[in-house]
Amino acid sequence: MEKMVIEGGYPLNGRVRVNGAKNAALPIMAACLLLKGTSTLKGIPELTDVKTLCKILNELGVDTKRFPDGQLQITVKDERNITAPYDLVRTMRASICVLGPLLGKRGMAKVSIPGGCSIGSRPIDIHLKGIKSLGAKVDMEDGYVIATGKKLKGSDVYLGGPYGSTVLGTCNIMMAAVLAEGRTIIENAACEPEVQDLANFLNKAGANISAIGDNNIIVDGVDELYGVEYEIIPDRIEAGTLMIAGAITGGNIILENDASCYLASVIDKLREAGVDIKVPDADQSTSGLARDGECIVKSDGNIKSVNITTLPYPGMPTDMQAQFTALLSMANGTSVITERVFPHRFMHVAELNRMGANIRNDDAIAIIKGVSSLSGTTVMASDLRASASLIVAGLAAKGITEIRRLYHIDRGYERLEDRLINLGAKIWREKE
Ligand code: EPZ
Repeated sequence: MEKMVIEGGYPLNGRVRVNGAKNAALPIMAACLLLKGTSTLKGIPELTDVKTLCKILNELGVDTKRFPDGQLQITVKDERNITAPYDLVRTMRASICVLGPLLGKRGMAKVSIPGGCSIGSRPIDIHLKGIKSLGAKVDMEDGYVIATGKKLKGSDVYLGGPYGSTVLGTCNIMMAAVLAEGRTIIENAACEPEVQDLANFLNKAGANISAIGDNNIIVDGVDELYGVEYEIIPDRIEAGTLMIAGAITGGNIILENDASCYLASVIDKLREAGVDIKVPDADQSTSGLARDGECIVKSDGNIKSVNITTLPYPGMPTDMQAQFTALLSMANGTSVITERVFPHRFMHVAELNRMGANIRNDDAIAIIKGVSSLSGTTVMASDLRASASLIVAGLAAKGITEIRRLYHIDRGYERLEDRLINLGAKIWREKE
């Protein structure tokens, strides 16, 4: 096993390119199960989660071919297998996104039920309710969900849950509905940019999805979908993480392949905290979705306290909460963070406190009393974004921070330390 070692205290300066979005790449890769012919996906990041999904697709009779420039070619060769096995699903909860396309194309899906994870219990009840609304029969057997429905029928599908809609649930229903008979209206759909990216990909492949980005998505079933070339949107969470790394170190960084058009809530709070952020003009956009310009983040390292509540898009992303917790632990004054998507996603708090932060977590709330400095020590990463928050804290802390259970970071950030080194950070990997 490897650990990340950081010598803190160096401001980040320079340019860094934002990679393609993990959470757009995964459902779009799964959507290729619905297609005939070969798809070429561009901007697919080199991540453990992408490799895991490739393995699952390979099990399901799909050829995947990776190119060094970030392209991934996907071709369905054999449609007989319908099982996503436990051994692969258990390593990545997002594997559930093969459920919708397998059912929609092959008429049957057997997918291991994902277990809990360190950010909360993460049930799939709304996914199952959704596919049942399309006429599928759902059984649970030996830890697997078995869904059958030779010809699904379009219907009104309501996806609201206790914490709002569901991102992968919306993706699953959209993918199950594209080849169904008639019209499906997904009510209380997730509006996240990654869900929009999936819809745009499917439309390019021949689907008929409208009201993309709305709370009520309309899917009119078509007979067939075909392989296409498609470029994934930039990763807004990676961009936001880099912005916070720049801010906490008092740096000056320029983000290329900018994702700021999806980050209004994050940029608003960073500006309130005293960070200077210049986003590209809207008319610089050529892609229609992301703005292709650059985003400039400048900070003098003096961070003001702010209150944050995580919410579904376009609210503050829960995937940025841990990084903000690290930033605000060094703010002037007291900040309150309320987690409204995954109420128990606070495993990073105890580790940040080990570095000298003063954070009290009570249920879904963290009260952060800013301290003037953090100090490096050995900490444990508990999940992907918790790892990111510890790296961000380590970049600003005095002395040496060692982060154990590093594998979490490689699930969602491609070669993060190389890119931070280019910005002037002192960060490296060592064997544990
Ligand atoms: C996606 O997970 C992301 N993963 C997560 O990113 C992200 O944190 C989350 O959306 C919220 O934005 C991918 O896209 C691969 P949800 P997802 O279903 O779809 C509850 C990261 O770090 N719920 O929108 O699984 C659920 O428990 C990851 O990159 C039900 O109650 O999240 C949560 O409280 C982690 N029943 C809320 O809804 C259900 O059937 C939102 O979860 C489904 C969800």
